[in-house]
Parts: sequence; C-alpha cells; structure tokens
Amino acid sequence: MTDKQQNKLWGGRFSESTDQFVQEFTASVNFDQRMYAQDIRGSIAHATMLAEAGVISTDERDAIIQGLEGVREDIENGQFQWSVALEDVHMNIEASLTDRIGITGKKLHTGRSRNDQVATDIRLWLRDEIDAIDAEMARMMEGLLGLAEREAATIMPGFTHLQTAQPVTFGHHMLAWFEMLRRDRERLADCRKRVNRMPLGSAALAGTTYPINRETTRELLGFDEVCYNSLDAVSDRDFAIEFCALAALCMTHLSRMSEELVLWTSAQFNFIDLPDRFCTGSSIMPQKKNPDVPELVRGKTGRVNGHLICLLTLMKSQPLAYNKDNQEDKEPLYDAVDTLRGSLRAFADMIPAIEPNREAMREAARRGFATATDLADYLVRKGIPFRDSHEIVGKAVAYGVEKKKDLGDMSLSELKQFSDQIDEDVFEVLTLEGSVSARNHVGGTAPDQVRAAVQRARAQGNA
Ligand code: ARG
Repeated sequence: MTDKQQNKLWGGRFSESTDQFVQEFTASVNFDQRMYAQDIRGSIAHATMLAEAGVISTDERDAIIQGLEGVREDIENGQFQWSVALEDVHMNIEASLTDRIGITGKKLHTGRSRNDQVATDIRLWLRDEIDAIDAEMARMMEGLLGLAEREAATIMPGFTHLQTAQPVTFGHHMLAWFEMLRRDRERLADCRKRVNRMPLGSAALAGTTYPINRETTRELLGFDEVCYNSLDAVSDRDFAIEFCALAALCMTHLSRMSEELVLWTSAQFNFIDLPDRFCTGSSIMPQKKNPDVPELVRGKTGRVNGHLICLLTLMKSQPLAYNKDNQEDKEPLYDAVDTLRGSLRAFADMIPAIEPNREAMREAARRGFATATDLADYLVRKGIPFRDSHEIVGKAVAYGVEKKKDLGDMSLSELKQFSDQIDEDVFEVLTLEGSVSARNHVGGTAPDQVRAAVQRARAQGNA
C-alpha cells in the first residue's frame, strides 16, 4: 500500500492508489467545507453521547471536544489546510483532529458513518439558513405593510391582460405581494419541521451495535425528533427537494414583483422611482438608469427552478439506502439558498425605498376608462339589467375613444345620450376615489380596507 493510500481513512482494503483524476472527481471538500461548523457541532454532540454511554471515557471525550474546537479555530482563522485527498469535509476534520490529539481522535467515528453524519450536517446547515431566510421574509413583509399603509389611498390603474381594468389603490397592490410572501413564509415554516429531524444514529444504513442514546444527541443538536428509520434517514433528501420547491415558488413570486417594478420604472409607465443605489447606468447611453436588481432577481428565478429539477432527478429511482449520487445534493441546495436569501435581502432593502409617482399613476388610471365598470354598476342600481348596462357603457366608451374623453370628463348631456337613467349623481361613481372606496369589503381595494388589512396582518404577527 502506498503512503497516499494510507492517508485515506478507508485505505485498509486497498492495494493501489486512487487515480488522481478519480480522486478529484469524487471529492466534495471544495464545496462541502461550507458545513464545517455543523460537522463539528454534530461531532461534539456525538462524542458527548459516546462518553455518556460509556463507549469512550470522559477524558477521551474532553480531548476530542477540545481538539475539534481547535480545528474550528484553525478553519475560521484561515489556517486549515483542506485536502482533496481526504475527500470531504468530514474526513478532513477527522484527520486533522487525529493529527492534533493522536489516537483518541480515531475513536470519534465509533458508532456512526459519514452517511448519517452528512445527512445530519445538511439538516443542521439548512435549518440555520431557513431561520435566516425567515428573517429576510419578515423584513420584506414589514416593508410591504409600511408601504401599503403609507399609500393606502394612492390610486393607480389595476390591470388584467396588462390592460387598464379598474382603479385600485397602490396599497392594495402592495398587499397582494404581501399575501404571496405570507404563504411562502408559511411553506418555509412547514418545511423546517421536516428538516429538523435527526438522522444521526442511523450509522451507515442499519443502525449500530453500540449502546448509543439518540435522545441525547437529538437534544444537544436541537432537533425536534429523530428519524425513525435508519435506511430512510441516510438516503432521502426529500427535505432538500421540499426546500427547493418552496424556494422556486418564492422566487417565482419575486420575479412577478420584479417584472412589475421593471415596467413601473420605465418612462412609459413612470409609476415609481427606485433610488439610484438599486440601479446602474449604461456605459454608452448616458440617460439610462436600469432597474438591475429586479431584473437580476427575475433572471435568477431560473436557476432555482433548475435546482429543484436537479434534486428531483437526483433522487429519482435511487435504491435504498445511501448512494454516492447524494453527494450531488449540496451545490444545488447551497445555490438555491444563496439565491433566495440574496434576492429576499435585496427586496427587503428596496421595498421601503420605492418612491411612488402618485400623479402619474392617477393620470394613467384616469385615462384608461377605468371606471367603466362603476358606470355599469350604477345603471344596474337604477334598475337596468347588467348585460344591458354593459352594452350601454361599451357605447359610451367607444364615444370617449373617438372624442378622446374619459367617462369622468363627459358632460351630463353627453352621458345621457347613452341612457336617460344617468343623472347628476353619476359623477360620484365616475371619480377614481368613488370607485375604489366603493369596494369596501374584506379583500377589496378601498383605502379603509387596506388600512384594516395592515392592522390585521400586524395583529396576527405577520411581520
Ligand atoms: N461526501 C459524501 C456525501 O456528500 C459523504 C458521505 C460519503 N459516504 C460514503 N459512504 N462514501 O454524500
């Protein structure tokens, strides 16, 4: 056996060195070192439990814990030499522990396997990230509530088919975004429950012959429950798939918001301004101020969708129990986490800084016959069946298109051409304020409803 092979923690049965390329091809240390803190935390809990069970002595436990803390310090000070020959984060840390404390270091791996170790590390890592993502979601939701409250009575056109449909309040539009995020946050909290279960103790696949106490490690690591089947625990990555699914959905929501921000900052809409710090210029066109942050978030949605498909495909058809395929779970998961977390952070920073251009929004709502439905409803209240009133208002709109006049700009006699049921009181319903205020029920766009919805959300502790 060569020296190199002896370096490996599994070299015993091998008689030739790993091919250089295969070594690099199969190694994961370049990316899984990201979980060093979770790996060390898991190992400290495992050593504590082994001593409690009498598998190692308390002196051995103390030496291991001290050694692992030293390794952690080295990593954090940039003094740790990561080695591809040692394959992954787990074997790098274990080998370094043994270098430090000698033979006792070799006892750490008693009663466990890298299979339950890695599954535990990913869950610990993802749990921390979920908590950080939750905080960004909360921050963004708080921003939306603040903006909705401030702009509860600001009028803009509401769209269907991207055509002006009915006036809505800008605050109401912000609360639509809030609802999307509220559901995303619920999904995140739900996913966390299934992430927060502990594979440790499953060992390679079948459990271990040592008298381990999984309750001790569960408690030390803050898991809600242990995983109840060792074969399942070391092999399934459904919790990571589930996270990517909710991440993809949340990114989809952020991409919809991004699209609207991009449209609204254009000269054609001019509904809002984004402060310069969220935009960049063009190197050739001096007048340009590009909404890069929302554009990038919109674009990044694609990679998270990709990671979801990647993990689903990775898991598909894998026989029980652990397979090396699962090493491929990390990069997509890490990138999904980074992308979602970064996008949420950018949005949480950006939302309170949105500057609505109230006049331009109002003008756009006024121009687009946005109160046509209100006129139809008015005629219904005067006893005309809705289908007929729809027809009457359609004719009035056609007249307005021809004369370049909005409904609210027509005189009473002009309006009366279309129905003699129209009286002076029609102008109340043709105003934008009258239109939005009339939709005064839970979920409606009236300013009072927007304010009530903000209060309700705050009382429910959402943000
Ligand atoms: N680096 C491996 C992974 O990410 C750790 C588990 C390796 N287990 C094994 N039996 N080779 O999945």
